[in-house]
Amino acid sequence: MTELNQQQLLDIVNTKHTAPGDARVRQLTARIVSDLFKTIDELDVSPDEFWKAVDWLNRLAQGGQVGLITAGLGFDRLLDIRMDEADQKAGRAAGTPRAIEGPLFVAGAPSFKVEARLDAGEPKGEVFVMEGQVLDTDGQPVAHAQMDVWHANEVGGYSHFFPGMQPYELRRHIETDAKGNYRFRSFLPPGYAIPPNSPTAELFTALGRHGNRPAHIHFLVVAPGLRTLTTQVNIPGDTYIDDDFAFATRDGLIIEIEKNVAPAGYESLGISEPFTRSRFNFVLQQALNDSEASPAARMARVTA
Ligand SMILES: [Fe+2]
Repeated sequence: MTELNQQQLLDIVNTKHTAPGDARVRQLTARIVSDLFKTIDELDVSPDEFWKAVDWLNRLAQGGQVGLITAGLGFDRLLDIRMDEADQKAGRAAGTPRAIEGPLFVAGAPSFKVEARLDAGEPKGEVFVMEGQVLDTDGQPVAHAQMDVWHANEVGGYSHFFPGMQPYELRRHIETDAKGNYRFRSFLPPGYAIPPNSPTAELFTALGRHGNRPAHIHFLVVAPGLRTLTTQVNIPGDTYIDDDFAFATRDGLIIEIEKNVAPAGYESLGISEPFTRSRFNFVLQQALNDSEASPAARMARVTA
């Protein structure tokens, strides 16, 4: 083997192959490797710095936190911005804004028709009902739309990820009625922060950034022929509403809160005292193809 300079090494890395492979993967890998070679050279990255980064990546993956870092470094929002830009160009920017899914969706939540209670037992916070309709962009109700809703518990943990929680706690699947109606009872969740003493927290400490997310509730709304909507709503008044770790707050997704709503009509949700309510309609675009209407969440789409 001859001696190589940096450029010669890069050229070999990026062109070497004995089979066609996947052209797209080869293209992307070549670009990323080229950019990293350039970063290492121009910023004079030392071997210790490089291997420290590799150790961090190993621990990040072992800890299941890659999806946290993608959100915290803006990649999740970037993908949404790019889809919004494509929609603008195509003249189809309409309906409820999308927002990041986040890394904590779990498929298979208990399923209910029209209404559900997400929490159980004594309220762990302000008793809260969210209700409304799923509509299309013509304002027509979407009968039997499928909605997944999930949020954090009173200390910011999600079931299936946070110790001590019940399976599917604070996660439900709701099918709307013929008029697109849904409603659910839960409690107003608090905001939360990235796990302390974690690889994610290490990076954010080094960046001088906080890891807080404002209070929010996640949704995945699906109906045949309509574009699957992944979004989240924010609860107004949170300190971090405009300073989200994951950059996910959006106009049009900050719900209005009504306090002291009379309990009449909400008995089926176990409510007998004044409570807090929000009315919010989810508006779904027409899907242009099967992929846009796929009911799968983001990782299920690519791992099926
Ligand atoms: Fe969340």
